[in-house]
Amino acid sequence: MIKISPSILSADFARLGEEIKSVERAGADAIHVDVMDGHFVPNLTLGPPVIASLAKVATVPLDVHVMVAPIDHYISDYVQAGANYLTIHAEATHHADRALTLIRQLGAKAGIAINPGTPVAAIEDLLHLSDLILIMSVNPGFGGQSFIPRALEKIKAVREMIDDRGLNVELQVDGGIKPDNIFAAAQAGADFFVAGSAIFSQPDYRTVIGQLKEQGTAGKTARR
Ligand code: DX5
Ligand code: ZN
Repeated sequence: MIKISPSILSADFARLGEEIKSVERAGADAIHVDVMDGHFVPNLTLGPPVIASLAKVATVPLDVHVMVAPIDHYISDYVQAGANYLTIHAEATHHADRALTLIRQLGAKAGIAINPGTPVAAIEDLLHLSDLILIMSVNPGFGGQSFIPRALEKIKAVREMIDDRGLNVELQVDGGIKPDNIFAAAQAGADFFVAGSAIFSQPDYRTVIGQLKEQGTAGKTARR
């Protein structure tokens, strides 16, 4: 099955707890939390204290995407705060092998992300240490940007690597995902979809999450 992870970057920050409850009731499989440091990306969001508060409210896994560099020294803070998945950027550490191993040792699922300008070769020697690969389909920093089509080729390439090696790794895509392009991303091989503005811009979260799941499942079926 495919998973939908609403990005709370586009939620109402004054009502984050309620927003999480609403998307959970609407069918969210995880909650995507974008941590931005104003250095690795040109925007600043939230950190471990807010994640700890969200962890008390959420009943689905917290899918924490840290856009922080260097990340190494902060990993344990995020896992202790309640990140169930902790996805770091390949561009944000010199020691991704060590960092992913540490995330797993701390008891979280280890994710590795690559920016649109980073080739898939950057994660080739990290697949066996990862529970999730994140292909960025926008340049990170902001919600509401357009999907970069080149990401589809990267998803296909990583899907092949995962399947060739028989690994159990989730393949996530983040940025500009909408009901009208999720089919293509799923057909390319993604199975875990982040969507921010597509969900939170709508009055009825259930309808849009339903559309995303329907189109995503159809795309995954078409791949076979
Ligand atoms: C971008 C973030 C995304 C963002 C996605 O830097 O990593 O998670 O919230 O938002 P949409 O779906 O609006 O592109
Ligand atoms: Zn994200």
